[in-house]
Amino acid sequence: MRNSTRWTDIAVMIVSLIVIGISAWWLFTSGAMSIPLDQDPKLAWHLVRSAGIVSYVLLLASTVWGLFISGQIVKDWSPGPISMTLHATVSWLALLLGLGHGLLLMFDDYFTYTLSDILVPFTGPYRPEVVGLGTLAFWLLLIISLSFPLKKFIGNKAWKLLHFTSYLAFAMVTLHGLFAGTDGHLLGFRILISVGVLSVLALLIARMRKDRSRANQRLAPRRAVRQQTN
Ligand code: HEM
Repeated sequence: MRNSTRWTDIAVMIVSLIVIGISAWWLFTSGAMSIPLDQDPKLAWHLVRSAGIVSYVLLLASTVWGLFISGQIVKDWSPGPISMTLHATVSWLALLLGLGHGLLLMFDDYFTYTLSDILVPFTGPYRPEVVGLGTLAFWLLLIISLSFPLKKFIGNKAWKLLHFTSYLAFAMVTLHGLFAGTDGHLLGFRILISVGVLSVLALLIARMRKDRSRANQRLAPRRAVRQQTN
């Protein structure tokens, strides 16, 4: 094992332990554990919100990991097939939780949501425009996730093109969480969204620069020949 790889492993483990520690500390000190779930009249609403936030975090993780893979940042540290499996698995988990988050609205008695309100974008009783962005992003992400096993059949070019729309889905879900959610005004939620959007933007710009310099390197010999013949 290379030295840099070992240090990356240790750094990831330390960061994971810190995140788990802070989450456990917050859980026990917030008093959340002292509320009997069966006596909470707003249980469905709490579950809608928490499933939405966890789904967003997973989607963010999947998008960042995807950019790590395409930017060849984790090439030496994580073998290709493992990286791809992790990317696909986290995407599917985000989708499942996103679906659960939507379906749980049927159990919340503040608004009356039907199955069709949840599955058909822009038709629900509450802020249909911004809630609809979540539904639309869900369908788009489902198509993108289904394209993983179908890559062989649809071809690399179409798959890549389809995959680019995941940035659009990420943007839609970000606006959805910020403007549809009860917690959109909270500092912690805004920090999560800001860190998420800024890291995706930074990685995307770095990747585009890398792609451009690679394309320039590829075209350099051709340009040199053309200059000589002119
Ligand atoms: C992958 C897909 C989705 C993700 C990542 C997602 C994420 C989120 C997030 C982060 C929030 C803010 C939660 C809060 O303020 O605590 C939210 C709110 C909401 N979402 Fe989604 N969502 C998705 C799909 C859907 C779908 C399909 C529906 C179906 C109609 C939906 C309906 C809602 C509603 C009604 C709210 C407001 C809940 C409230 O605060 O009372 N979402 N979503």
